[in-house]
Amino acid sequence: MVRVLVIGAGGYIGFRFSQHLRRANHIVYGTIRNSAKENLLLSNEIFPVIGDIKSKDNTTPAWIEAIKTHNIDVIVDFTPIMNTNEAILQPLIRVSKERQALGLPKLGFIYCSGMWCHGSGYEPTSDLSPTGAKTSRHQPPAIIHWRPEVEKQVVASWEHLTAAVVRPCHVYGGTGNAWDLYFAPIYAEVQKGSTKLTVQANPDAAPGLIHVDDAASALVAAVEKLELVAGRKDQYPVFDVSTSHESIAFVLRRFAEEVGFSKGGQIDFVGVPTGTSLSDMFHQAFNTSINTSSTRARTLLGWAPTKAPGYAAGMHIYAKSWLAGFLERQKKAK
Ligand SMILES: NC(=O)c1ccc[n+]([C@@H]2O[C@H](COP(=O)([O-])OP(=O)(O)OC[C@H]3O[C@@H](n4cnc5c(N)ncnc54)[C@H](OP(=O)(O)O)[C@@H]3O)[C@@H](O)[C@H]2O)c1
Repeated sequence: MVRVLVIGAGGYIGFRFSQHLRRANHIVYGTIRNSAKENLLLSNEIFPVIGDIKSKDNTTPAWIEAIKTHNIDVIVDFTPIMNTNEAILQPLIRVSKERQALGLPKLGFIYCSGMWCHGSGYEPTSDLSPTGAKTSRHQPPAIIHWRPEVEKQVVASWEHLTAAVVRPCHVYGGTGNAWDLYFAPIYAEVQKGSTKLTVQANPDAAPGLIHVDDAASALVAAVEKLELVAGRKDQYPVFDVSTSHESIAFVLRRFAEEVGFSKGGQIDFVGVPTGTSLSDMFHQAFNTSINTSSTRARTLLGWAPTKAPGYAAGMHIYAKSWLAGFLERQKKAK
C-alpha cells in the first residue's frame, strides 16, 4: 500500500489512474483546481487537495503541504505545463532533501509524458531511443517541443527523487475529450445528413494508441515497481506504453460509421494544416505516426494491458462512450 498524490486527479487520465490505484488499495490524494470535482473525488475514495500548482500569494501551495502532512510516498504528475522543473520538480526536490536529511527515503515521482516526444515515423522505435536530441531520427511536434527536456530533468533528479517517466501513446476510451478535435466536426456533419466528409488528417498517419485503462494500469505498475526501476544513476526509468499502431483514416472512418455515416461513404482526407495556431499544431501532433513496442514496460514493470486489439476494432463501444461524454460537456458548457 503506497500513499500517492495525483496532480491533476480530475483530468482524463489522472482520474482513471486514481480509480485504478484505489482498486489496488493504495491511499490516494488528488489535486483539483477548484471545488467543482470535490464530490466526484470523494465518492471515488480519493482525498481532494484543492488549488493550483502555484499558489497565488507565494505561500506554500496546498499540494506541497499535503505531501508533508499526509506522508505521501509517490507523486504522479499529469499537468501538461512547460515549466515542470520550476513548478513541480524543484519544490519536490526540496521536500525530498529534507526527508533525506532525516534518514527517510527519497520521494517517488512519476511524470506522465507522452509518446509524441518520438516525433513521427513508421520504423520501430522504443523508449531507449533518444528524443528531442540532435541524434534523434525525428523531432517532436511543435506543440510539445519542450517535453523531452522535462523528461531529461526528471531522469536527472535521481539523487533526490526516485523518479520515472511513463509515456502513453494517444489515449482512447471513456470520454476521451482530446478526440473532440476530429470526432466533433465529423459528428456534426453526420447529424446534418452530409453524404461526403472532408477531414483535415493525413491518410497515411498511423499513431500509436492505448486505452485509458491500459495507460492507468501502466502508471499503477510504475508506482508499484518504482523502487526497483528508478532512483539510481545506472537506470533509465523511461517507459513507452502503447498497445496498437493504427491508421488514423481507418479509426476516423469507423467512428463516422458508428455515428451514422454510410458504410463506405466518401471521406476526403485533405492533409494536416501547416499553420502555427494551437489548433493547427494540435492537428499536426495528432497525426504523429509512432510504432513502438512497450517491451520494457511489460518486462520491467510487469505491465499487462488488457484492451487489445485496438481503437478501430472496438469503435462500436468507443464511439458511444465518446459521444456520451461530448454531449455531457456540451450541456455543462451551456
Ligand atoms: N490524452 C492523451 O491522449 C495523452 C496521451 C499522452 C500523454 N498525455 C499527457 O498526459 C497528461 C494528462 O493528459 P489528459 O488527457 O488527462 O489531460 P487533462 O484531462 O487536461 O488533465 C490535465 C490535468 O492537469 C491539471 N492541471 C493543468 N494545469 C494545472 C495547474 N497549473 N495546476 C494544477 N493542475 C493543473 C488539470 O486540472 P483541471 O482539471 O483543473 O484543468 C487536469 O486535471 C498531459 O500531460 C498530457 O499531455 C495525454
